[in-house]
Amino acid sequence: MGQIIPWNFPLLMAAWKLAPALATGCTVVLKVAEETPLTALRLGEILQEAGLPPGVVNIVTGFGETAGAALAAHPGVDKVAFTGSTEVGRLIVQAAARDLKHVSLELGGKSPNIILEDADLDVAIPGAASAIFFNHGQCCCAGSRLYVHERLFDKVVAGVSDQAKAIKLGSGLDPATQMGPMVSETQRDRVCSYLEFGKKEGARAVTGGKAREGSGYFVEPTVFVDTKPGMKIVKEEIFGPVVTVTPFAEAGDALVHEANDTIYGLAAGIWTRDVSKAHALAARLKAGTVWINCYNIFDAALPFGGYKQSGWGREMGEAVLDNYLATKAVTISL
Ligand code: NAI
Ligand code: MG
Repeated sequence: MGQIIPWNFPLLMAAWKLAPALATGCTVVLKVAEETPLTALRLGEILQEAGLPPGVVNIVTGFGETAGAALAAHPGVDKVAFTGSTEVGRLIVQAAARDLKHVSLELGGKSPNIILEDADLDVAIPGAASAIFFNHGQCCCAGSRLYVHERLFDKVVAGVSDQAKAIKLGSGLDPATQMGPMVSETQRDRVCSYLEFGKKEGARAVTGGKAREGSGYFVEPTVFVDTKPGMKIVKEEIFGPVVTVTPFAEAGDALVHEANDTIYGLAAGIWTRDVSKAHALAARLKAGTVWINCYNIFDAALPFGGYKQSGWGREMGEAVLDNYLATKAVTISL
């Protein structure tokens, strides 16, 4: 098995990939992200100490265009499991096509998070803030498009902005820090270019909207309003602490259409006191995961993965085993 992982959760990504492959009796070459190689290398040492036979788990460092591409195209690899950008996901599929390797993909997202008129705002406001600001928004399932019933709109915008302003930015090694720097200069610049696009296209940053002054790759947690459906900041994955907040009048077809109006379909959130309404809406959202009155809740028993261009296949749950197993029918004449 060839496995390629990103930098946003270095240990978790390695675990999500290695565990099901080992559980199904596969050997693995795992290519770690160039930004975060050390965690998986340490994990490799620990696996050796634990007595894993040599050659079962092989951890490779290197750049995507060289090491990653070589792994995805290698004829000795039966299957490729990839987590990262949708753009590279497409390259993985192309590289795997020659030998018709099996592929599973965990790609980007632009997940809608919907606050209905009857939501408990004491829960929904901090929930909506952590849905986007957790891990600096460097999260494939980040709740980056917040849709709020118009009657609650001002209150939610003020509440989420207050939460954003209160986040303490600083060194990741300082225990008082709540949000560290972005993973790299490239990622800081990518996020900041979206902030500029947002302002240019007419959106308004209620709070944040720029990199923090001084050294380090810090981006201020940002809340955008006055957005329109076609804007870049509403359509594209930013992968930073940036949320767009849009009002809606009624939780009907128009809202469902807008929530689903994306090439992605990884996750969604719904906040309401009415569980029937939540289920009815959840059924209409094209997303592999729907969280109700919570967000970013994971469990090893729950399948995680995307509709549409958010990916192929599921990780975790029983479903992940399908990624690594082949079905064989043995017929005997007696
Ligand atoms: P990326 O998709 O380029 O990198 C992810 C992994 O793929 C890394 O290990 C990288 O070395 C490898 N890779 C890159 N090019 C490759 C190729 N041609 N063949 C094989 N492997 C290759 O993501 P990057 O550049 O770090 O971030 C760009 C954007 O991707 C982010 O802004 C974010 O939108 C998205 N992303 C999504 C993630 C997710 O969890 N779904 C994780 C990381 C990034
Ligand atoms: Mg890249």
